[in-house]
Amino acid sequence: MGAHGPPERRLAPHYMARNALSLLFVLFITLFAFARGSAVPAADVQRRDENLPARVPYVFPLPGTDPIADTIRARRANSTLLALDGALLNAPLVAQGWNQLFTVIRENLTIPGEMRELFILRTAVLNKAAYQWGQHESVGRAEGLTTRQLQVLRFAPAGVVTLTDQKILGDSLAAALAFADAITTSVHVPTHIYNNLARFLSPKQMVEAVSTAGSYAFVSRFTVALDVDGRMSEAVPVPI
Ligand SMILES: *[C@@H]1O[C@H](CO)[C@@H](O)[C@H](O)[C@H]1NC(C)=O
Ligand SMILES: *[C@@H]1O[C@H](CO)[C@@H](O)[C@H](O)[C@H]1NC(C)=O
Repeated sequence: MGAHGPPERRLAPHYMARNALSLLFVLFITLFAFARGSAVPAADVQRRDENLPARVPYVFPLPGTDPIADTIRARRANSTLLALDGALLNAPLVAQGWNQLFTVIRENLTIPGEMRELFILRTAVLNKAAYQWGQHESVGRAEGLTTRQLQVLRFAPAGVVTLTDQKILGDSLAAALAFADAITTSVHVPTHIYNNLARFLSPKQMVEAVSTAGSYAFVSRFTVALDVDGRMSEAVPVPI
């Protein structure tokens, strides 16, 4: 093709017409967003994750056009829907129920924030869910997990908590790690692993712990099976 020059040059008028149409479309969308009294310019609505395709098309309703999407948007950074939300919104009532559950898991638990994020990050590692880890590493750090602790969560073999790892994590997080491994890899949590975590948590908090590990196993399955943000086959990032 090099010898004959780029064929697209001959098609230039066609492409120009298409570009003009695209421009009109973008103008229309922008005007529409502002007409709805949107606080978010249309350009910002486009910026989310890596924008790589999932196995289903993303559904991103414009602000002000879809109450369920707006409720999800309200709890996202910069009011920007994630690739995860775009996949969920194919089934709006699932997206709505999901948002209600995960708002509680993220905002209303009484277990320590670092233990909550341990359950989320460890579940991501065990289920090879790079997207989930990517969304939560910074949250885990903000809740107090150190780089060394994150490295234990990333690299400890399933079901093995060494004395060194226990020292790095501390007793309650080490108990949570053993619990996360049991519930995620075999569902059946041995009594000694349950009781060891229950030394640190109330019955209410044990329900919260099980709900966190269990619900983020769902997140893993959702994001991996639907290849959300194109990260299904990516290795879980290494904390440094
Ligand atoms: C929110 O937007 C600001 C400004 O564009 C950007 O610097 C920041 O990284 C965004 N935050 C998130 C979590 O995307
Ligand atoms: C859940 O937590 C949020 C954020 O801290 C708070 O605003 C809200 O009132 C809490 N909800 C309940 C039912 O306690």
